[in-house]
Amino acid sequence: MEKKRWYKDMVFYQIWPRSFKDGDGDGMGDLHGVFEKLDYIKSLGCDGIWFSPLYPSPGVDCGYDISNYLDIAEEFGGMAAFKKVLDGAHERGMKVIMDLVVNHTSTEHEWFKKSRQRIDPYTDYYIWRPKKSNGRLPNNWDSLFEGKAWAWDDVRQEYYMHLFAIEQADLNMDNPLVREEVKNILKFWLDMGVDGFREDVITFISKPEGLPNDNYMPASKGIFMFNHGPHLHEYLEEFKRDVFDKYDAMILAEAPLVTPKKALEYIDEKNEPVLDMMIQFATQEADSFMTDYIHMPFNLKKLKRTYTKWQTQLDGKGWNMLYIENHDHPRMVSRYGSEKYREESAKMLAVSYLFQKGTPFIYQGQEIGMTNWYPTDPEMYEDVQTRWQYFNVATRKSPEKRLERLWHGSRDSARTPVQWSAEANAGFTTGTPWFYVNENYTEINVADQEGDPDSVLNFYRKAIELRKTLSAVRHGNYTEHFKSSSKVYTYTREDKRQKLLVVCSFTDKAVKMKAPKDFDTSKATLILANYKENTDILKPYEVRVYLLSK
Ligand code: GLC
Repeated sequence: MEKKRWYKDMVFYQIWPRSFKDGDGDGMGDLHGVFEKLDYIKSLGCDGIWFSPLYPSPGVDCGYDISNYLDIAEEFGGMAAFKKVLDGAHERGMKVIMDLVVNHTSTEHEWFKKSRQRIDPYTDYYIWRPKKSNGRLPNNWDSLFEGKAWAWDDVRQEYYMHLFAIEQADLNMDNPLVREEVKNILKFWLDMGVDGFREDVITFISKPEGLPNDNYMPASKGIFMFNHGPHLHEYLEEFKRDVFDKYDAMILAEAPLVTPKKALEYIDEKNEPVLDMMIQFATQEADSFMTDYIHMPFNLKKLKRTYTKWQTQLDGKGWNMLYIENHDHPRMVSRYGSEKYREESAKMLAVSYLFQKGTPFIYQGQEIGMTNWYPTDPEMYEDVQTRWQYFNVATRKSPEKRLERLWHGSRDSARTPVQWSAEANAGFTTGTPWFYVNENYTEINVADQEGDPDSVLNFYRKAIELRKTLSAVRHGNYTEHFKSSSKVYTYTREDKRQKLLVVCSFTDKAVKMKAPKDFDTSKATLILANYKENTDILKPYEVRVYLLSK
């Protein structure tokens, strides 16, 4: 089937279902709640939804530990509610993509239960290794979530690999039967009408033969061995040949540590690519994110360098996926902006990435400028990765300092329920919320912002509308200016008809407004800004977008 690449003109909204909206009063976000809010999502100007996992799951990693790929969890409303949402989205002209998590399954999956009992054909569905005579683990790789990458199974009397939580067992993708299962899953959802997938840590699915020790990395041992493993391309080709070629689906791949050069091996459009876009972690890497390093001061120059690298190196070859927040990352206002200048910085950050070239994704709550959450007790955290860091990793830091690190680095910082109104529980549920609601919901919520033309929410709507109407934003060339500035991010976008200048101040200090020499702002129209008065000095977190029509 001919690929239409329809996603290029779209803006996606990411739903992390547990915290989006509860429709049945049990305290857990669900698809009834999503159905209620479809018009809201559409009203932002979004044309698509990415759902973080909706499948049945014990919930050890909030749904990324799947126990049945061919169903929708009852807590989210089951299959009937999903079909209603899918139809409702399609009726509104919106696409729906699902999360495909096939690097691992939950240890509660039937495949694992049978595999641990050596019941065929499931015996080799996972990566099992016997105990070594010297008592050592099968290799020295680290799990990204919990200790080493191996857990002992009493039933089978062998170790199984888990690159993430202990209850997330890695599938043996070298087994052709496992790849058949993946293809069945893909077909099942595509035949139902789903429009594509966000493929979870897909670059980890092929492990090197013999699972050799990693003698190089001091931490996260193994990552450069199982990331982009030897058969990854071949397996993705197989999924494409046997499934994707028959559908006009979008494939967005999560790819930790990927460089633009590497990405092009998978997404270069002239080479029958096996993937469409990559979630490239540029923001986090530039920021040295990855939880441990989040205490480092934010460095705008590094961020700009990575943005520009991706914008220029993919240009004309592959397509960028743009994002600044997601469910694995603290809230952007708290990290790259300022809670003191919350509205200003939320608007500035929106423009900083929404006017780049690519397909933007907005994470639930980002559009109202939600902030991090600051619990007083580490026991309040839910996230498996966060809890392991706090409770199991030895450090000499004081409990207060360690808690503070969680505030700034934990994934839970962005997982509190969406703040819909100033009513009880932020209007998220009429029951008892499954997780803590950020106390600032009386000041930051959708209902208040709906009625305020200057709100962050309405600013997002304006920015998205401009993105859609200005051809230069969608397809124009990208050029960064004043690269050495550590306070301001400046770029232009240009096509035959238009030239746009985007100026984003990332500081609470006043800085001089500078335009590149060949861009005369006095001849341009200021089409978007977060301050009413615009002088030759940029105010804290000021953003401006100028348009020159040719
Ligand atoms: C991805 C997901 C993350 C999950 C992990 C394991 O990085 O985005 O939320 O915990 O994979 O599936």
